Amino acid sequence: MTLEEKIGQMTQLNLSAINHTGAGGDVTLDSAKAAGLVRNFHIGSFINGEAVPATQWLHYSAALQRIALRESRLHIPMIYGIDHMHGASYVSGTAIFPHNINLGASFNPELARQTARATVLESADLGHHWIFAPVLDLGVNTYWPRFYETYGEDPLVAATLGAAFVREIQTNTEIAPYKVAACGKHFLGYSDPRNGWDRTNALIPDQRLQEFFRPSFQAAIDSGLKSIMINSGEINGEPVHASKAILTDLLRRQMGFKGVAVTDWEDIIRLVRVQKVAANEKEATWMAVDAGVDMAMTPYTTNFCRYVKELVQEGRLTQARIDLSAGRVLQMKDEIGLFENPMPRGDRLNRIGDPALRAQAVAAARESVVLLKNEQNALPLAPARVKRLLVVGPSAESRANLSGGWTLAWQGRAEEAYPKDVPTLVEALRKEFPNARVETLPYRDTKGNLLLTNISAAARQADAVVLALGERPYTEGLGNTSDLTLPDDQQQLARAAQASGKPTVMLLIGGRPSIVRGVAEGTSAIIWAGLPGYGGGTALAEIISGKTNPSGKLPFTYPQFAGHIANYHHDNNENSLDLSDFGAGFEKRGPKYKSSMRTEFGEGLSYTTYAYSGLALSDSVLTGSAATLRATVRVANTGPRDGQEAVLWFLTDEVGRIARPVRLLKHFEKQAFATGQAREMTFTIDPLHDLSYPDAQGRPQLEDGWYTLRVGAQSARFRYVSGPVARNATAPSGTGAVLPAGSNTRTATAEAGGPR
Ligand code: BGC
Repeated sequence: MTLEEKIGQMTQLNLSAINHTGAGGDVTLDSAKAAGLVRNFHIGSFINGEAVPATQWLHYSAALQRIALRESRLHIPMIYGIDHMHGASYVSGTAIFPHNINLGASFNPELARQTARATVLESADLGHHWIFAPVLDLGVNTYWPRFYETYGEDPLVAATLGAAFVREIQTNTEIAPYKVAACGKHFLGYSDPRNGWDRTNALIPDQRLQEFFRPSFQAAIDSGLKSIMINSGEINGEPVHASKAILTDLLRRQMGFKGVAVTDWEDIIRLVRVQKVAANEKEATWMAVDAGVDMAMTPYTTNFCRYVKELVQEGRLTQARIDLSAGRVLQMKDEIGLFENPMPRGDRLNRIGDPALRAQAVAAARESVVLLKNEQNALPLAPARVKRLLVVGPSAESRANLSGGWTLAWQGRAEEAYPKDVPTLVEALRKEFPNARVETLPYRDTKGNLLLTNISAAARQADAVVLALGERPYTEGLGNTSDLTLPDDQQQLARAAQASGKPTVMLLIGGRPSIVRGVAEGTSAIIWAGLPGYGGGTALAEIISGKTNPSGKLPFTYPQFAGHIANYHHDNNENSLDLSDFGAGFEKRGPKYKSSMRTEFGEGLSYTTYAYSGLALSDSVLTGSAATLRATVRVANTGPRDGQEAVLWFLTDEVGRIARPVRLLKHFEKQAFATGQAREMTFTIDPLHDLSYPDAQGRPQLEDGWYTLRVGAQSARFRYVSGPVARNATAPSGTGAVLPAGSNTRTATAEAGGPR
């Protein structure tokens, strides 16, 4: 291959560069443009799209691939990348699954796998070779407009669901002879920008990067992840696209990544225009490639090709460096069988729109919402007792609001563009309450004025009111917000409904939690619905009627105040203002608000009850990193309904050499429990995996000392010692007790393996 041909493999263009002018995201190929770019610049990859019918994609992909094969001297197929983020969302008529934040709430990795399966079944035949998912960023900052794309704030949940998604995308055999590459994004630390806005600076110490942000990517890499997309923002002031420490030292050397690192959108030129760490585009190109970028999503220009060539000619980039990146791209193409099967096919298009996949999306939605409050068992509303139901709010009849961004198009589409066979909330409630009058009313007139008097009057006539709150779809920076508070008009709407004295059920639909403190008190039941996708209307209606028993648990900490965003795995000092520190008289001056709804990570109500009992450990001491400890607990469904319960096991390192999180999820497992059924659930504790934490360089630190295990309301303590120990050493009681000499005072760098 010539140098230019290799550089072409490193270049990725948006479809607007090869479409007829004005076609935007639509799929209408301008063959002459495409041929020119392949012939003259050897472009090896194209991206993007919007939902068009499968046959249109088929023609487009086939035409483009024919051009690539014909115009490239060595007949190298192009690889097509696309943002199918929750199902094959850029193909018309497909199953739209819940967004990742909802899958996180399900605590069920099988649903992530099913989402991946539907994605490839409904798109691989169309020439969609490279899926720009999953988002493996940690959802720790509820302001961040991409929060809903994450699996939530817990590293283990993100790692487990993310890896399940990656494995299915890359190893599904039903799409044979095709294979598809996944793209884990956005490496690394993208999701916690200090000011909450997209693509801005994050301040994250190396130790935290290792402990919290690395595991989801590591799990995906260990599962064979073929590509990563890079964080468009900065960490500690260093743009990640220019960071050799992150893209080479960490990603390649420490984490063992062998695949393709692709830039995000225009991120090389952003080093000049926005981040201002390079004086010009050529310098930025050098920085990015030198740091470890393999492919540039330029995505509109071919400047990258010119600058890389000049940099090689000038000796600033070596041929070997180019070979490495072009080689990785070609290897990915080879691994997915693109050389043998470059062309899409149209003989299995009946798979697209398969009702079985849609049914799975509905089933996923059922597990993905969380009942946060249910005062006096206001829910379920038994259909036999409800004669009149009022449904009001911006999401009452909105399919767009249930689906969020990345649905049909980047920012979603206008309401009329969504398939009519996807039930809105009102339609689904009508189906669930066939004998009731299910009414909806606009809460604004055409001029935008609130119609609260009408709402109050209608509410008084109804047996119950469903408040379908929410927000229009948004994606990336267009969703930046400076205020998480539920918009004032929706608060007024909630109050107008509450004033009727009728039971009110509040549905919190949207990509990030709104602060609802002002209206939560007066509401009988609250459901966090997130972005449940096309099955959302049905799932919510069934939960309201009681046909479905909710089983979701919060995958993040629901903020109560706009000014205090916390995560459940915070340090000891972060949430515990000890007023006695200030001396007598100050005890009563602390923050007083106590939420009337569940807001903690892992919380969620059900229509049945579960009893946890008999937590037992196979030993009270774990000696040496090769030993394991078996914990068991009995979980019983003691209530009147069948249900599903995610059993969450947390560990606390009681005293650490650095401040340790108050607790960390270390194991979870969701099971169905019929009413009356009990099961023994187990967690095998492996010291290196479960008790150690990484230092700033990623070396696992395994500390001698006491650990607390929690599951449900049960807890037990045990001790880890690296060497022989007297069996009768007694446990210190309570926080702050004096530990036996040696406990947690010694930090050993563990013998083997990396942190997970
Ligand atoms: C987003 C990525 C996406 C890419 C391609 C970017 O703006 O940050 O997540 O994959 O566009 O559409």
